[in-house]
Amino acid sequence: MKLTFCCANTPPEPWLEGLRAALPEAELSVWESGAPPADYAIVWSPPQVMVDQQPGLQAMFAIGAGVDKLLGLRLPPGLKLVRLDDAGMAVQMAEYVCHAVIRHFRDFDAYAAAQRDACWAQREPRRREQFSVGLLGLGVLGSRVAQALRAFEFPLLGWSRSPKALDGVQCHHGADGLNDFLAGSQVLVNLLPLTTETEKLLNRDTLGRLRPGGYLVNVARGAHLVEADLLALLESGQLAGATLDVFRTEPLPPEHPFWHHPRITVTPHVSARTLRDESIAQIARKIRALQRGESIAGVVDPVRGY
Ligand SMILES: NC(=O)c1ccc[n+]([C@@H]2O[C@H](COP(=O)([O-])OP(=O)(O)OC[C@H]3O[C@@H](n4cnc5c(N)ncnc54)[C@H](OP(=O)(O)O)[C@@H]3O)[C@@H](O)[C@H]2O)c1
Repeated sequence: MKLTFCCANTPPEPWLEGLRAALPEAELSVWESGAPPADYAIVWSPPQVMVDQQPGLQAMFAIGAGVDKLLGLRLPPGLKLVRLDDAGMAVQMAEYVCHAVIRHFRDFDAYAAAQRDACWAQREPRRREQFSVGLLGLGVLGSRVAQALRAFEFPLLGWSRSPKALDGVQCHHGADGLNDFLAGSQVLVNLLPLTTETEKLLNRDTLGRLRPGGYLVNVARGAHLVEADLLALLESGQLAGATLDVFRTEPLPPEHPFWHHPRITVTPHVSARTLRDESIAQIARKIRALQRGESIAGVVDPVRGY
């Protein structure tokens, strides 16, 4: 079995070392133009020429959960594109989102500011039963985040494409379910894949339909959000704040207004990192399953876009 590694901005050696240990029978290479044919590729932002020059590929394994950038490639019909499912990302996402939600719920930013002024000022507690958290996306990450948030007894809502039943979550689905979902949510957490249907879904209209004092946590993709609309809604007071991990342009340019906005928290796309060992173990397991002719999880449907 031949495996080629083609991941932009990723030093290959630690990956190759892990892959050698996990799949000792595999012949490994780092892809370069004109390389001999491989059966499987491990990829992140590969160039089109890699796909074109590897007609024997059976599957391409992305080292991320979101494959929006890869769907821009022209892929031959039989080639499976496989994403990471969880591989250690779900618990990280749960940490990040719980932190952002609780920081807002408990007014920790205000206490940090008060400490800077040596000011002892207790604030009125928010009412938990009114602090509803809506999760856009109830897939691998969204359902793990819901499980974590449930422990804090916030009212939870969720929105997905197909109907879902999740313990403790009021589930909505499809375009018809979006309005009720938004109208019932005060905090909105975005965990959708970026597709033609979900691009710019976070805009003046949808964010404006949140309950008063709405708050946005965007941990999916920057292109889900119309950035100027968020700024306008913060300016008008319709939204209370936002925690943003992903941006239309990454790295976020130094002059971008999000950096210094008093009600926006910025992190540099770190809410759920790809963990190398977990990812290698998952990819190796899936390659072995494919070799045995079994089906695997995480195969991307190019029509659906995720
Ligand atoms: N910031 C980071 O560090 C980071 C890290 C990892 C992932 N991510 C982002 O997180 C996203 C989600 O990952 P995941 O593993 O949870 O994906 P997933 O398992 O594929 O779940 C996607 C969820 O979104 C729903 N959905 C998709 N299109 C929809 C639409 N048009 N309308 C309503 N619901 C829709 C799906 O509905 P169904 O259940 O009905 O299919 C599903 O519940 C990734 O695509 C990636 O962009 C970000």
